[in-house]
Amino acid sequence: MRIDLISLFPDFVASLAGHGVVGRAGERGLIDIHGWNPRDYAEGNYRRVDDRPFGGGPGMVMLIEPLRAALQAARAADPAPAPVIYLSPQGRRLDQARVRALASAPRLILLCGRYEGVDERLLQAEVDEELSIGDYVLSGGELAAAVLIDAVARLQDGALNDAQSAEQDSFGVDGLLDCPHYTRPVEHALGAVPEVLLSGNHAQIARWRRMQALGRTWLRRPDLLEEAALSKQDRALLAEFLAMQATPGTNSGEPA
Ligand code: ADE
Repeated sequence: MRIDLISLFPDFVASLAGHGVVGRAGERGLIDIHGWNPRDYAEGNYRRVDDRPFGGGPGMVMLIEPLRAALQAARAADPAPAPVIYLSPQGRRLDQARVRALASAPRLILLCGRYEGVDERLLQAEVDEELSIGDYVLSGGELAAAVLIDAVARLQDGALNDAQSAEQDSFGVDGLLDCPHYTRPVEHALGAVPEVLLSGNHAQIARWRRMQALGRTWLRRPDLLEEAALSKQDRALLAEFLAMQATPGTNSGEPA
């Protein structure tokens, strides 16, 4: 997958994306990130990329032309068609279903705005999709672009060492939160590892994990459960989890 990033700070995003799973995906040739700085396409000695908003008000608005030229250069660098995604708090909220769909595209162009915004005419003419990473305001789209890059990179075939782990993540296959995880030591002042995980009984372990995932989702994100297609067995597991929650002395794994 090729990702073209239009940003006043392309190196910032590339460095964020250069570690861990995304870094490895890059080394393995699974994703290829190219930065384009609108300032390189700006005119005049000062290479201006922004100006004051018509109608007054605080802050600066990014100019059409440097962004348009950077977009054109990015498009021309590869023949594959690429949707242009603008990262902004006004966009549709990014979720794992959208990440999955975007991860299968051969190419994406990510447009990061800075300051108070981007001239609306550029957005109307050039942007295919506007995405937000949450209901809060960042000072630019760069961190959001890094989030999106990380989320799509880890879904590329071969990016994760254990092919199953993307499926087992929260929201992995069925929109549930992930179960809790434990490692050594078995006994610790902070508590013991749930016994079932030490049993070697894979069916019991899978059952426990499913029950925890269902229970956690019910407790923390009931909105997700409304969307999830639960089987009869899932409903029974959830009922078991909730009964344990209600019974003092049983440890369902959730803090009270
Ligand atoms: N730019 C500024 N805030 C943002 C947000 N919440 N999501 C995506 N891009 C942004």
